[in-house]
Amino acid sequence: MNPGIVAAVVPAAGLGTRFGSAENKIWAHIGGRPVIAWTLHALCSHPSVDRVVLVGNQRDLDRLRREFGHLPKMHAIVEGGETRAASVRNGIAALPNDCEIILVHDAARPAASLELITRVLEAASQRGAAVPGLPVSDTLKRARQDGVIMETVSRSGLWAVQTPQGARLAWLTRAFAMLGAAADEYTDEAGVLESAGYAVHVIPGEPDNIKITEPADLERATRILLGEGGKEVPMHRVGFGYDVHPFTRGRDLWLGGVQIPYAMGLAGHSDADVVLHALCDALLGAAGAGDIGMLFPDTDEANRDRASSEFLAEAKSRLDALGWRVENADITLLAEAPRIASYRSQMAEHIAGLLGIGADRVNIKATTSEGMGFVGRKEGMACWAVALIARNDAAPPAPAKDAQQST
Ligand code: CTP
Ligand code: MG
Repeated sequence: MNPGIVAAVVPAAGLGTRFGSAENKIWAHIGGRPVIAWTLHALCSHPSVDRVVLVGNQRDLDRLRREFGHLPKMHAIVEGGETRAASVRNGIAALPNDCEIILVHDAARPAASLELITRVLEAASQRGAAVPGLPVSDTLKRARQDGVIMETVSRSGLWAVQTPQGARLAWLTRAFAMLGAAADEYTDEAGVLESAGYAVHVIPGEPDNIKITEPADLERATRILLGEGGKEVPMHRVGFGYDVHPFTRGRDLWLGGVQIPYAMGLAGHSDADVVLHALCDALLGAAGAGDIGMLFPDTDEANRDRASSEFLAEAKSRLDALGWRVENADITLLAEAPRIASYRSQMAEHIAGLLGIGADRVNIKATTSEGMGFVGRKEGMACWAVALIARNDAAPPAPAKDAQQST
């Protein structure tokens, strides 16, 4: 399948009236992670999805930008409108015009599988527009307001449709333009397309692809995503980071957030703390949240001479937002000079403090390069870091043996 450039628009700008909580239902937690984080993860981890536009209500915009603005495929986070159709229109308006296929997926559907996304994409690129649906299996009745049944409706040919709804972007754009304000009547994109005369195909949806509408749906979604027989959700992930900086005269040397007396410092846009940079990349990498250069570009004057401890604190808050905690980090610094052995525990404590974990979970090693290469010639330093992260709802590590025996 080559659907061309695929964009996903995620309407998240509703009020969640039926859910009934003070804040938008997209912030309700499933396994320590907000509903919207699950939904975005499903879309962003699909290899054919190239860009994502998130549509939020005015109240949520700052928080959405703070927590998800950095995701590698996130193209824009824009304000929604009064109706779902208005929100989707705003999302489409933020797309670059190179996109071929658009998927519109409810923020409130956190459990769509990668296979479902693939099937919708395939059908939309072959046929122009496709939506997943389930054939209606219950007997249908039309009733009056007071509950008295007026008639039995044939369920033959009836489908309950879901999202993601896929279409050629040109079709959906034209359909919205043709319908104008009348598009606001429709609660899905298929409705807009059908009404503009486009043929939309329904393909098999997934019973587990539920929409969080009422509080009870949250329990069901939790069972689907985490529970017995639920989807395989990784409990742990590992990340790797590497960084290198050259020595320069006239700068302080910062390593692991600790200032170390030396004749030279490291050159860089920020304080050039090579240890914290490698660690940030390991953590962001583990969470699939990009890298330090994306978060803190060296073209941004605000980052000039900035303390890298602030970068690490920010990386940690990104992990928090995505529902991950840090299990441990292991760091190897390659430096011919100065000797850093006596600063290792200070660095580990500083880093552990920023990550909110015990210093025993941060291991720092240093080695020389035996006189070889740029490190050996004392031109600079290099650093590698690996980090393991665990989902916030994963069981905490078992207590150490000694602790068990003493209780
Ligand atoms: N949505 C939107 N803009 C609107 C209305 C809805 O972006 N003006 C989004 C919702 O955030 C949700 C999806 O469309 O992700 C499906 O809508 P629904 O389940 O009806 O959510 P809400 O409108 O928020 O809930 P309610 O109808 O109970 O108020
Ligand atoms: Mg609604």
